Amino acid sequence: MRFDLDRFIADCRLALAEDQSHKSVREVVARVVADPASVLKGLGEPRRAEVQKLYHSEDLTILNVIWGPRMTIMPHNHQMWAVIGVYTGREDNIFWRRIPGSENGKVEAAGARALCEKDAEPLGRNIIHSVTNPISRLTGAIHVYGGDFFGAERSEWDPETLLEQRYDVEKTVRLFEEANAVHASAKV
Ligand SMILES: [Fe+2]
Repeated sequence: MRFDLDRFIADCRLALAEDQSHKSVREVVARVVADPASVLKGLGEPRRAEVQKLYHSEDLTILNVIWGPRMTIMPHNHQMWAVIGVYTGREDNIFWRRIPGSENGKVEAAGARALCEKDAEPLGRNIIHSVTNPISRLTGAIHVYGGDFFGAERSEWDPETLLEQRYDVEKTVRLFEEANAVHASAKV
C-alpha cells in the first residue's frame, strides 16, 4: 500500500492517544518503513541533506531527516522519546552517558546501534546520541518525537571536548547545509 502522509500522521496521533509511551508509535513507524519503496514514493527520493518538518504539535513532532553522505551530527539529547525509522541508507548511532561527578556535563560513549533500512528504533527520553551516515549516498529516516521537538530545552555536546552546551538549532541547520556544500563541491 502506498505511503500516505496524512494517514501516517493520523495513525501516529491515534497511537499516541492509545499509549503515551513510544510503543504504539514504534509499531506504526515499523509498519511504514517495512515497505521502503512506498515511503520513497510518498515522501519523494532524497535529493539533499535537510530536515523536513512533516508534522509539529505540542505532543508530537514528525520529521523527514535526510543525512548527507558520511555526515555526522554531534552528541545531543531530545528530552522526549523518539522513534527512528530508516527507509533508505544507514544510520550509525553512538549512545553517550554523562560521566558521574564530571563538571560541565562531560559524556563518554556507552553503546552503539547500526540502523539499516526497515529498522524502527525507539530512543528513551534521556538518551544522548550522535548520528553518522556512514555511506556515500543520502540516508533518509522518519523521526517521530513524543513532544515539541523545536520548543524543548535541550543540550548538545561539543564533538571535540565532549562538554555540554545549550542546543543550538541554527548550528544543526548549518551542519546540513555544509553537508550539501561538501557534496556539491565533490561532484565538480
Ligand atoms: Fe537526535
